[in-house]
Amino acid sequence: MSVINIAIANMLPFIPKPVVGYFAKRYIAGDKLEDAIRVISELNDEGFMCTVNILGENIKKIESAVNYLQRYKEILNELTEKKLDSNISIKMTQMGMGLDDKVCLKQMDEIIQLSKKENNFVRIDMEESIYTSKTLEIHSKLAKKHNNVGIVIQAYLRRSESDVSELLKIKAGVRLCKGIYVEPREIAFKDRENIRLNYTRLLKMLLRGGRYVGIATHDERLVYEAYDIINEMGLGKEEYEFQMIYGVNKEMGKKILADGHRLRIYVPYGEEWLAYSIRRLKENPDIAGHIIKNILSFNNRGS
Ligand code: FDA
Repeated sequence: MSVINIAIANMLPFIPKPVVGYFAKRYIAGDKLEDAIRVISELNDEGFMCTVNILGENIKKIESAVNYLQRYKEILNELTEKKLDSNISIKMTQMGMGLDDKVCLKQMDEIIQLSKKENNFVRIDMEESIYTSKTLEIHSKLAKKHNNVGIVIQAYLRRSESDVSELLKIKAGVRLCKGIYVEPREIAFKDRENIRLNYTRLLKMLLRGGRYVGIATHDERLVYEAYDIINEMGLGKEEYEFQMIYGVNKEMGKKILADGHRLRIYVPYGEEWLAYSIRRLKENPDIAGHIIKNILSFNNRGS
């Protein structure tokens, strides 16, 4: 990322919400359930599978968790009713993790059970490192009871190799991503090349261990490295999937489909879009260009 990009990215939390919203629209399906359903339906028509997430994290009152559970139940019903190809992705701090872990476990158990009845699957997103151990612990309890729940591993964390070894033992389904939170050097690789190297190593560990992996990256080099590993291992296309985020590098997504692989798009929606959008915008290598271009065009319109 260029110095200007980093400077603009760091200013994002101080930029007024409507301005951030203007740039963040591309990453969010909309505010309402019907927006997500429309986007999923369009993506399915283009050949993409989806995973839907209700935006929101780090709830302050446990009652909010109950409300989120209700909303996830509604989504599951809609997905089944409309015969859409989408599972769901949940951040557990949205379900009470950190506030009341017992409530979180109970709520997750309920949504996973319901999704099993609907022949569906629940992916547990991975959040900041303060939650990593707890997330893995709760996932492990849930995975002992249910076969339709999966977890996320972040390649930037130094602990991930040992976490993957444990996940291989319990035969977990894993989404592998680089990791999006800002973590200290003591626990996380900072160098982009090291993160890539670790990503490929973990991917090999998981696939060789017979795990179904969601290969979640827009990094074209990692995608082609994954192709090589898949070819060398002679894997069938139902033994893994690629994953990308709504609003990012759809061209590459189409190429992955055209190359004969399956691809799932992460589709977030809801009113609580600010924290998610800031994380996404910080990763956009063209953010400075977009913002400067738009400020100039606003000025021109005004002159
Ligand atoms: P990288 O950031 O190097 O991006 C590669 C290229 O993709 C960039 O050069 C650019 O061209 C393009 N690109 C990437 N992000 C962009 C953006 N926002 N806007 C425009 N272009 C962009 N993380 C986490 O910590 N916990 C989680 O649970 C998840 N879940 C998850 C699900 C799915 C389906 C995906 C794809 C990703 C996640 N992530 C995540 C996020 C992940 O950890 C990581 O931060 C992003 O995917 C960016 O990393 P890349 O591997 O894409 O590489």
